[in-house]
Amino acid sequence: PPVPAFAVPLPIPPVLSPVRRDAHADYYEITQAPAQVCLLPGLRTGIWGYNGIFPGPTLVSRRGRPAVVTHTNRLPVPTVVHLHGGRTPHTDDGYPVDFLYPDGPMPGMPGMGMPGGTRMVRRAYTYPMDQRAATLWYHDHRMDFTGPSVWRGLAGFHLVRDEEEDALGLPSGPRELPLMITDRSFDADGSLRYPSREPALREPGVTDAYMAGVLGDVMLVNGAPWPVATVEGAQYRLRILNACNARRLDLRLDPGAPLTQIGTDGGLLAAPLQHNHFELAPAQRLDVVVDFSAYRPGTIVTLVNDFGEGRMGEILRFAVGERAPDRFRLPGRLGTVEPLGPPSVTRTMHFASAGTDGWRINGAPFGVDTVAASPTFGSTEVWRLVSDFHHPVHLHLNPFQVLSRGLAGPGPFDAGWKDTIDLRPAEDAAIAVRFDGYRGKYVFHCHNLEHEDMAMMGNFVVT
Ligand code: C2O
Ligand code: CU
Repeated sequence: PPVPAFAVPLPIPPVLSPVRRDAHADYYEITQAPAQVCLLPGLRTGIWGYNGIFPGPTLVSRRGRPAVVTHTNRLPVPTVVHLHGGRTPHTDDGYPVDFLYPDGPMPGMPGMGMPGGTRMVRRAYTYPMDQRAATLWYHDHRMDFTGPSVWRGLAGFHLVRDEEEDALGLPSGPRELPLMITDRSFDADGSLRYPSREPALREPGVTDAYMAGVLGDVMLVNGAPWPVATVEGAQYRLRILNACNARRLDLRLDPGAPLTQIGTDGGLLAAPLQHNHFELAPAQRLDVVVDFSAYRPGTIVTLVNDFGEGRMGEILRFAVGERAPDRFRLPGRLGTVEPLGPPSVTRTMHFASAGTDGWRINGAPFGVDTVAASPTFGSTEVWRLVSDFHHPVHLHLNPFQVLSRGLAGPGPFDAGWKDTIDLRPAEDAAIAVRFDGYRGKYVFHCHNLEHEDMAMMGNFVVT
């Protein structure tokens, strides 16, 4: 359908209140359900949503205060909830076959269920939140089906705050905007279009033309197509998440103004970094301060994507209003990013295509019983990541630091604690990871969701 650009205001996902708090934790309830929502003006779109909305509600936690999130599944398929960037025990990390079963029939999926006939239809995920303030997000992670499930709407923000961040007095309230960027395609009736090989999602895979990843032709921010945000002439904190299945973004403001980076996947940088543009791969987050008082009131500022063609080259507009009081002063120091100690082991992981058979790590497809690495609890390792194509490589549990890209040091977008590295074609990068969160089995994978669904995922077991 023809979708008008810059015709709707930027929505902000609602913040979810806990149903209960006690001395130990905050308790939340989320129901995963199909819903008909208005994403495109004048049309209804069927989605799968956390609480029936897309993006899902935003959860906000404080460091050290556990969040217990109970999910009920009212979708027609099993699901898996993963908190991306979460330092979470493996039992609650959303292992790709640790299913949450539907609370009703699964049409066309007879025989799928737990041995003995018991099915988990409602379960509590406990997140200790023993981690730095950061922009986390939660999304579906079902083996072989993450791409279509996230495409249909199963994604939301989970923000972590702490005292180190509070002390900076960053722009907050209406001046702190979470921006979830997703590209999607729609049919004429408004329904989401995803090129599954088998539309009922009983069998995995996309049609051959999309082996490299599924791209959409409508840019959504917080679920709205090319929206407009009205801002005051003041500094704003933008918490940008690339939640596209496969699309890389190269962000810039037009007319130009500096993007002052304060944080990344794993929270605050040690010191602010100025960028004219910023490349953001799927699953990566960019925390920036933008000073809209640098523009004359009435200016329309576009967040541009220089990697996009035609309409995909634009994302969102800011309508700048009158200059307003602003007491925020950007400090020279932000957070503590301690260097990691010397590594005990170096491992090499090759990320490569297996033609129409899918995608592989070190030649092997994902299997629940395979083990690609067994790091010792508390140790630091260096992983050499070698790629044939663009692969945004993500590790669960522990954030990492980028050491090098080829013979060069980290790139301009690699600073701080990362959980996803934007590996480019024919690249040989190195990251340092300290496996000190929890013991157990976790996955690492390409976060191009179609690559992930076509088996570009491996297990590491912290022992
Ligand atoms: Cu964003 Cu393994 O996931
Ligand atoms: Cu990939």
